[in-house]
Amino acid sequence: MQKIVVLNTKGGSGKTTLTTNLVSSLVCSGTKPALIDLDPQGSSTRWLANRPASVPAIAGTEGYTQSSQVTKTWLLRTPEDCDLAVIDTPAALSRADLVSATRGADAILIPVMPSDIDIHAAMKCISDLLLVAKIRRPDRKIGIVANRVRTNTRVYAKLQKFLSSLDIPLIATLRDSQNYTRAFEFGLGIHEMPYSQVKKDIEAWEDITAWLQELREHARRHPAAIHLLRS
Ligand SMILES: Nc1ncnc2c1ncn2[C@@H]1O[C@H](COP(=O)(O)OP(=O)(O)OP(=O)(O)O)[C@@H](O)[C@H]1O
Ligand SMILES: [Mg+2]
Repeated sequence: MQKIVVLNTKGGSGKTTLTTNLVSSLVCSGTKPALIDLDPQGSSTRWLANRPASVPAIAGTEGYTQSSQVTKTWLLRTPEDCDLAVIDTPAALSRADLVSATRGADAILIPVMPSDIDIHAAMKCISDLLLVAKIRRPDRKIGIVANRVRTNTRVYAKLQKFLSSLDIPLIATLRDSQNYTRAFEFGLGIHEMPYSQVKKDIEAWEDITAWLQELREHARRHPAAIHLLRS
């Protein structure tokens, strides 16, 4: 099963928003995703429970224990008929949990808000992924999503500069939009909202879909490298 992890140790960067909209967009395109909620706050799980009967159901698993530790068994409890798992992670992720949550990941999405504090925190998070979780840069698994962006601001330019210096791709830019807040409230993703209302946001999501597709093709072309990493 493919594993997509949404991660940023900075709180409120948009992990849950990205996760819920990603599973919603996948289900709209005919894929069968499972949503794994590793956050004891349970926001993704609450969103799943709020989904109306009129939209496709999405399988969900809560992957934490009462002691707030990320469990090692969550993958075993993921429904077998799902094509892939999207994992929402908590902000306060210990180094051990960072390693455990990203082990065998096919893609790691990091939402980053363009503020000085957030850029600094993202820098730390990315360096932990590379140095502690040993994610190899050539595998191109890490993709940054600039979130809540008002384009052409000075901090957005700073975020772009910071990412190009790290050679980590900025795969998409999501604007600051009430559509996300509204969709979440109703247990929906923006792909399930009236098109005329969310047209601009849907266009931005095409970049995320294209990147994931590219990554799948890259993994198909380099199966040996992926196999070695997982063994
Ligand atoms: N692109 C966006 N436009 C407008 N609001 C957004 C956007 N992305 C996220 N938000 C809002 O920002 C807040 C934080 O987002 P979210 O809960 O997804 O972050 P998080 O990283 O999961 O937080 P935590 O670290 O607490 O789990 C929420 O109220 C959410 O609705
Ligand atoms: Mg969250």
